[in-house]
Parts: sequence; structure tokens; C-alpha cells
Amino acid sequence: MEIKKVGVVGCGLMGSGIAQVAAMAGYDTLVREVSQALLDKGFTGIDKSLAKFVEKGTVSADDKRAIINRLSGTTHLEDLKDCDLIIEAVTENLETKHLTFRTLDSACKPDTIFASNTSSLSITEILAATKRPQRFVGLHFFNPVPLMKLVEVVRTVVTDPAVYETVFKFAESLGKVPVRARDTGGFIVNRLLVPYLLDAVRAYEEGAGSIVDIDNGMKLGCGYPMGPFTLLDFVGLDTTYYIANIMFDEFKEKRFASPPLLKRLVLAGHFGKKTGRGFYDWSDPKNPKPTL
Ligand code: CAA
Repeated sequence: MEIKKVGVVGCGLMGSGIAQVAAMAGYDTLVREVSQALLDKGFTGIDKSLAKFVEKGTVSADDKRAIINRLSGTTHLEDLKDCDLIIEAVTENLETKHLTFRTLDSACKPDTIFASNTSSLSITEILAATKRPQRFVGLHFFNPVPLMKLVEVVRTVVTDPAVYETVFKFAESLGKVPVRARDTGGFIVNRLLVPYLLDAVRAYEEGAGSIVDIDNGMKLGCGYPMGPFTLLDFVGLDTTYYIANIMFDEFKEKRFASPPLLKRLVLAGHFGKKTGRGFYDWSDPKNPKPTL
């Protein structure tokens, strides 16, 4: 099956990035958000990101215009009915995802492939809302989507192998490097990344070093692009806490248990960069200051 038209549900940080890379790869891309204001916000982000590529000379001004012309928006889920592949990137809430896919399942043509960008929920649990379990996969992108090369292509025990290969090739056509993952908690990356991030918080709690020294340790000692606390603020403390809880529930292992400090910061509403404060104060984004 050939993918020509791509639908994206959600135009937040992930959805807008996914729509952008699909349009950049030449696909007609239709994005759905719940309101025009949220669509506009997402499209402004895409415009800014494309402007950075133009500035660097990796995308020409003409190409930028062509990419934007390939993108359109709607507030009606049913408008995605003719898409060959629909990638869902709504909030990490099972009920919201079920509602989205139930509506799409009755509106879309029978061969439309569904994919979820969930980073933590079980693909098998999400697909249960549809009557097309064989045509349902996980397609997990990484933030910031236009820059990060990796996509996890997740198969379940019921995925049709031909559908899986179609989606795998689609991910390659975006210029990404897909990896084959099974539908187990956290897939590949979060299964390894989340315990590392949680361990950094535990190391701080136990007095191993300061926020900045632990960050510098991993950044300069191991060549990571960001230290664990900067990455936590970047991913979102709320998101990490949420993923950790789901993985703890799945595996019942201490390495997935949220340290008390992470929970307290989330309870205080300090989610990281997006709220301006987490392990760092981001009032001056170029010069973040540790808060603890
Ligand atoms: N679009 C286009 N260009 C962008 C961009 C975007 N969305 N975001 C940043 N850039 C540009 C910047 O403008 C900058 O350009 P200049 O070189 O001209 O200044 C360039 O990319 C580099 O950015 P920065 O200078 O801000 O910083 P950097 O060199 O550290 O690179 C980074 C940024 C690629 C994000 C890098 O820090 C990195 O790889 N960090 C780790 C990110 C990571 O681990 N992501 C995964 C999170 S986990 C996840 O997503 C999964 C999950 O389920 C939780």
C-alpha cells in the first residue's frame, strides 16, 4: 500500500513536528486540532522551525513555501477520512485516545492505517477501541521531531506484517532512522532512558552532587547532548512522572519508581521548560539557573 496523504491528530509540540516532517518529505498532510487557536499556534511553531532551516540553508525559501502549501488544518476529525496513514499525537490519556480512534475508525476508509505516537501507553490497549487491530501500529517520534533522527516503529501481537513494513518504509521516507520495537512498556528508548533520569534525581537526593555538577558529569563525561536534569526539564517533569508511573505499573520494579522529589516538583506545578521552572529556572532560556 502506498502512503500519499497523511493525517495528524494533535498540533502540539509532537503533532506539529510530525506534520512538519511529513510535509517536508513531500506528503500532503492534514492536521486536526480541537480549536483554530491551537491549530494556529502549532502552525506558527512549524513556520518558525522551517525558518531556522532556511536560515541554515538546508531548506530553500521556495521549498519552505511548498512545504507550507502541503499542510492544511481542520478542527473536524472526520475530515481525515481519506488519509492513508493517520498519526495520533493527542494528550497521553487512554480515554481521549480511545475516543479519537473510535471516531476515526467509523469515518475512515477500511485500509487507512492508524498509528499512535504514545510514549508510554500500550499500543494494544489503544487499538482495542477500533475494528482494525491489524492496521494499527505505534510510531514514536522524539522531541524536537524535526531534528531527532529516531522513530520507534512498534508492532503488537496482532499487527499485519505488511502494514508494519509500509509504516517502517514511511518512517524511512521522512529521513528518519526507524527501529523495530515491540509493544512493551516504554518500548526501547524510554525503557532505558526513564530509569536513568529517575536515577539522576535519586543521585541528587542522596547527595552525590549538585544539579549542575550531575548535568555536567553526564554531558562532558559521557558526551550526552544534555545532562539528565536539563533533559528532564526539556521532556517535562510531568511527562516523565506520568511515563514512570505507567512503567512501574507494568514492571513493578524499583528502577521505574518515581523518586519523591520528582513527585513534589510535579505537585508544585514545576514541569520544566514549558512552565518556566523545573530543576532549572528558565526565565532566561540561554542561561538557566538551578532551582535546588
Ligand atoms: N526546528 C529547527 N531547528 C531547531 C529546532 C526545531 N524544532 N530546535 C532547535 N533547532 C536548532 C536551533 O535553532 C539551533 O540552531 P543554531 O545551531 O543555528 O543555533 C540548533 O538546532 C541546535 O540547537 P541548540 O543550539 O538549541 O542546542 P543543541 O545543539 O543542544 O541541539 C538538541 C538541540 C538537538 C535538542 C540537542 O540538545 C539534543 O539532542 N538534546 C537531547 C534531546 C533528546 O534527548 N530528545 C529526546 C527526548 S525523549 C523523547 O522525546 C521521548 C519521550 O517519549 C519522552
